[in-house]
Amino acid sequence: MDQKIYIFDTTLRDGEQVPGCQLNTIEKIELAKSLEALKVDIIECGFPVSSPGDFNSVVEISKNVTEARICALTRAVENDIDVAAEALHYAKKGRIHTGIGTSDSHIRYKFNSNREEIIERAVKAVKYARNKIDDVEFYAEDAGRTDNEYLARVVEAVIAAGATVVNIPDTTGYCTPWEYGEKIKFLMNNVPNIDKAIISTHCHNDLGMATANTISGVMNGARQVEVTINGIGERAGNTSLEEVVMTLKCRKDLPFYTDIDARQIYKNSRLVSTLMRMPVQPNKAIVGRNAFAHSSGIHQDGVLKNRESYEIIDPMDVGVNDSVIALTARSGRAALKHHYERLGIHLSPEELDHAYEKFLLLADTKKDVNDSDLLIIVGVNRNEAARKIRLKFLQVISGKGSVPMATVKLNIDGEICTATSSGNGPIDAAFSAVKQLVNRKIVVEEFLVQAITRGSNDVGKVHVQVENRGNLYYGFSANTDIITASVEAFVDAISKFI
Ligand code: KIV
Ligand code: ZN
Repeated sequence: MDQKIYIFDTTLRDGEQVPGCQLNTIEKIELAKSLEALKVDIIECGFPVSSPGDFNSVVEISKNVTEARICALTRAVENDIDVAAEALHYAKKGRIHTGIGTSDSHIRYKFNSNREEIIERAVKAVKYARNKIDDVEFYAEDAGRTDNEYLARVVEAVIAAGATVVNIPDTTGYCTPWEYGEKIKFLMNNVPNIDKAIISTHCHNDLGMATANTISGVMNGARQVEVTINGIGERAGNTSLEEVVMTLKCRKDLPFYTDIDARQIYKNSRLVSTLMRMPVQPNKAIVGRNAFAHSSGIHQDGVLKNRESYEIIDPMDVGVNDSVIALTARSGRAALKHHYERLGIHLSPEELDHAYEKFLLLADTKKDVNDSDLLIIVGVNRNEAARKIRLKFLQVISGKGSVPMATVKLNIDGEICTATSSGNGPIDAAFSAVKQLVNRKIVVEEFLVQAITRGSNDVGKVHVQVENRGNLYYGFSANTDIITASVEAFVDAISKFI
């Protein structure tokens, strides 16, 4: 029978350690709820002794999350453990994650100590934590570079002291998959009480092997994996949740399963990217913009005939609405036809031939052929299409103590219409005024603001993705006024289907 692999998400702790990615408590609760809907088993949400903000977030997440287990990190220090236990007071199911460095380098330079003393400190911390809570995970920091014989002694001692889970972190991302798998296997075979605890992987991605190391750990006996959404984390990041979950799901020959609701993966990826202001690299496995995009003619034709020709995952399975058939000079007629049909234009074979010739000429000079270009090719005036809806005027009132309000004037097909609306911020207010004017059901799926340089006088680039009647539309704008850029990008997206 397939075995369950527990998903321990540390986006809110290890992931949040990325400089510039810090979230406030409200954002952390939003993400924790979304991770709960994704059905992760454990949410590690902070290091309570490190700051009042972290303490408060663990308290509030504990109050708001009911299904997933809430975990708080500590060092092997009694005060850390006291503070973590207090922060977890409201958790329905709580866990303290305590630990200490076990590699010779950590023992010598970080702790100025010796191997025996480190085992004593580890055991003392686990026993102390077990007096506060019945679920205690121990981490052997830098286990990746720890001597296996010594690591086995540490693991045996902390399990005897009451650890329910033992985490074997490759803290520096140094291990190769083979080596990490052997390490887990060595522990499974050489720690007499290993069956009393769950062994967990925690791999960093410094050499780009975090996912491979994690899977190798699972194949050799680990039953919990520590991961983050989009693989975010310090330096090159942590193991990415989506990569591990989809590997276990899509490789039917591996006898493992997780409880993750994979259709929530893309949504969580967008949420993390937006909240943490960290764009996902386009070619990122599973969640990158190009992860399901096919650009060569042969591949496009194959996918349009049968998705499985070049796709091992149905994009719908991870919550992506469709695979993207990119239009480049290498695209074939099948891809072009697909795009025209998406725009509601059905061409006869002769018309398609004609359009294809023009398309190839354009694609040779233009890297990215967009919807407006396609309309021009078949004689629909692009400018007219683009001009159907334009932002003419925008005024917002916002600031501390005031209710954000926005007045928007749009030129819709030559007619000037005005609306005023409030919102939970100036952008929300302006978007809601635009929605009133266009009178369509529009859901904002993605909203990303990026600075071009770093100064406060910088130009903000805004990407918006909206959903209307099951289709997604992108809009873009750039302006030194990011509220104007946001509304222009929103209107740009809407103009694609109005
Ligand atoms: O990478 C690491 O070793 C860690 C531990 C604190 C679990 O994040
Ligand atoms: Zn880590």
